[in-house]
Order: sequence, then structure tokens, then C-alpha cells
Amino acid sequence: MLLVVHGGAGERMPDINSLKKLYESLSSGYKILSNGGTVLDAVTESIMVLENSGIFNAGAGGNLQLDGVRRLDASIMEGKYLKAGSVIGIEGIRNPIKVAQLIMDSPHVMLTHMVARKIADSNNLELLPEPDKKSLEKLRNIKKKEKELVKIFKQYFSTVGAVALDRYGNLGAGASTGGIPAMLPGRVGDTPIIGAGIYAENSIGAISCSGIGENIIRLSLSKEICMNLKIMPPHNAAVLSLRRLSKIGGEAGVIVINKKGQFALIHTTKYMASGYAHKKGIVVKESFKRVLPSF
Ligand code: GLY
Repeated sequence: MLLVVHGGAGERMPDINSLKKLYESLSSGYKILSNGGTVLDAVTESIMVLENSGIFNAGAGGNLQLDGVRRLDASIMEGKYLKAGSVIGIEGIRNPIKVAQLIMDSPHVMLTHMVARKIADSNNLELLPEPDKKSLEKLRNIKKKEKELVKIFKQYFSTVGAVALDRYGNLGAGASTGGIPAMLPGRVGDTPIIGAGIYAENSIGAISCSGIGENIIRLSLSKEICMNLKIMPPHNAAVLSLRRLSKIGGEAGVIVINKKGQFALIHTTKYMASGYAHKKGIVVKESFKRVLPSF
């Protein structure tokens, strides 16, 4: 059994509170795996802890788009039957990952706010209050720096994600995000796109990404790493694809596990607050293995 969780790749050093919250997320998720729970429940639980915290760019802490609206994305996938669920741009819901799980159990894979919100409401999911003063102030400051938007855009992503392997050999992956620090209304990144932000297949592996979504989509990063995993271990699979991502100007961090339970936490950015839980305990760090571009 194994659970790997990340709290986003970026250039800013994660603070102690985010590392503590990652520990809590790993501990809650791993308890589910230890008690014989499903890989999807473990992934959902660990992501919900991070969404609820308000300190990551997901759920209660999600970024506002430039019109002041918080539109959240999330996705989840299981590797046995390749079932997946994804929500795009949902507003007013604290745990988009729960919505993604509900969508997975519907006839569809992806839904946008319009119907996804109805599903969330009919399942009595917890609501998110209107953006607070702090979020609005942050947005005002970002807007003032119009000329620096590209720089801001590249600073810190803090999407959250998890991958897991349960005792039955099932793999799962999930992710949840408020997008990037500066974005046009309606912008959608990699997180809700199966094969870009996440991917899971029992006979190969599971991947969850954080970073500039636009480039991750262009490379279908998760699916590409998954295909690499057919012939190489997680570390090599991730490094190969992250180097290709760097060549198109991308920045990302990935968590990867394979069917044997080998795993890697790798990022092109300076930091990626992340960690893992297995039978020997829990490890959380502000960064793991950095891959530098090789042009
Ligand atoms: N990786 C999150 C996003 O680009 O939206």
C-alpha cells in the first residue's frame, strides 16, 4: 500500500503549515488504505483535507479568476476499469474532488459548472462562502501588476494531487485546483483533463501533476509518463517527460507510482511540497528531486 500527495510545485518555499497539512492529508488517506478502503476513497480523503485547509490553491483556498470569481477544477481516475470523473469551473463548492467522484459514477466523464453544481447540491455537498477580503485584496494586487502577469503566472501553482496503490493492486489518481495565480475568466488548465493532469491504469501506473496547465495539456503529460512507465521505472519516466516539457517552456511537478509500488516525486521548479505514506511511516518535504532542463 502506498499514498503519495503533493501540495503544488513552485518557486516559493512552502511554509511549515502547508507541510503539516500534507502530513495530515497523508495520515488520513493512508488510514483508509490500512482499513481496507478503496484507492478512490483514499485519494479523495487526502485531497479533501487539502481543499478544506484554505492554504493551498484548491477548494477553500482556490485562486480567483480575473473577474473575481473562484472557478475550481478537479478530477479523479481509477486504474481497474479506467473510470474517471472530472469537473470544470465549479463555483461555490468546497470540495470539487467529491464532485469529480460523483461525476465518475454518472454516465459522463467531464461536466462543467452548470450541471456539476446541480449534482453537488443534490448530494448536499458543503458550500464555499463568497471570496473573503484577503482573496479580493490578493486579486487587486495581481491586477495592479499587469506588466508582470507572466512572471506571477510562473511563480507558484499549489494545485493539490494524490496517487495511491491499495492492497488489492488497484491504482488511483486525483487532483484539485483553483488554476494559476493570474488567469482570464473561463480559463481551464490541465487538472480536469484526463491524460493531462492525472492518469491511472492498474497494469502500468498512476500520475498526478502540478504546474502551468497550458504546457501540461500540450504534452498530455500524465498519459505520456504512464506510457514511459511501460518500459522504465517512475524516476526515469518522469525525468524524460519533464525534460520534454521544459523544451516547450513548461514548469511542473509530478508524483508517479507504478504497479510494483515504486514511486517518484519530481519537479522542474525549485520546490514541490509533497510526501508519501507507506508501511514504514510518513515522509513530507518542501522539495524532492529537481529536474533541470537539458537543451
Ligand atoms: N495545474 C493547474 C492549472 O494549470 O490549472
